[in-house]
Amino acid sequence: NQAEKKGYPHFMLKEIMEQPEILKISSKISSEEIKKLAKLIKDSEKVYFIGMGTSYHACIYAEYLFSKLGKLVIACDASEFLNKGVVDEKTLVIALTQSGETYDTLKAMRYAKERGAKVGAIVNILGSTATREADITVLMGAGLEIAVCATKTFTSQLMIIYRLFIEFGKLLNKDMAVYERAIEKIPKYVKEVLNKKDYIERVTKDLKVNNYIFISRGINIVSALEGALKFKEITYLHAEGMSAGMLKHGTISLIDERMDTIAIVPPKNSRVFNSIISNIEEVKARNGKVIAITPVEIETADYNIITPNVIEEISPIIYAPAYQLLAYYKAVQLNRDVDKPRGLAKSVTVE
Ligand code: G6P
Repeated sequence: NQAEKKGYPHFMLKEIMEQPEILKISSKISSEEIKKLAKLIKDSEKVYFIGMGTSYHACIYAEYLFSKLGKLVIACDASEFLNKGVVDEKTLVIALTQSGETYDTLKAMRYAKERGAKVGAIVNILGSTATREADITVLMGAGLEIAVCATKTFTSQLMIIYRLFIEFGKLLNKDMAVYERAIEKIPKYVKEVLNKKDYIERVTKDLKVNNYIFISRGINIVSALEGALKFKEITYLHAEGMSAGMLKHGTISLIDERMDTIAIVPPKNSRVFNSIISNIEEVKARNGKVIAITPVEIETADYNIITPNVIEEISPIIYAPAYQLLAYYKAVQLNRDVDKPRGLAKSVTVE
């Protein structure tokens, strides 16, 4: 068992550190299927991306990316799909599920199929139920993930969605060259963030409160939500993720020295870069501590975890290791069962 961890104290850390290699695989795997799925997206009137937990956050990434090409796709919590999904023969439902066995996701897939929709699945486990039931399956190639907390399977899902976005853009005759070129650099950027691990560990020593809020704007809403989920899953401390815009509509009243804020700052070229900076100032004005995951040093922040400055579209992939490590080191300090957090399962196969 220890050997399988390749010298790492936990599977989670091993899986976090594997991401540059895994992302190389995910950047090449399933090319034909991705093209086919992109064509289906183009030919469908309504497109849903459905999933649970971390996989649902990957669905939100799809929503933002496709909007850039003028295509409305809807991210939906799979457990609510039967309550609000509008499904007919011109609908495409793409299920994101690492295990391919999540009860709510399979149920939503079956519901869609019965109503004549096409069903695609982006899955990590070959031969899983989702792969058998979908009309088209895209494999992620993330390798076996043992820690309950999804890490490498998440960034690999984002990679697949990013490639789907590129193929879709090509079908619309858009120039996707910038995006294609960016793919090759992703593993290197991720490695740069992983190299900050000692600094990130040091930062977690100063996280002493019981409440955390993760904020961002734009496509990195995905990072805010996923960052909070990782954190609460394994530290058992309360964490919430939301858009910085929402902060003023309730949560800001909680901010003081007993609530720390993790601000995921979008790349410099983002149109929401300046507004997140003023949100950070608002938090500081209320005596809240701010940890920025950011491409540039933010003077008002208490800590800056500096990331490479990349195009906004790939930034959620690059930021992921930073908040994964933040959650990991905090959980280790608190002596949590990092790989098997209480009450959670790797795959939830019941309602
Ligand atoms: C469980 C796991 C999560 C995962 C979710 C969905 O809650 O603990 O890590 O994101 O299920 O799993 P799936 O296999 O469908 O991606």
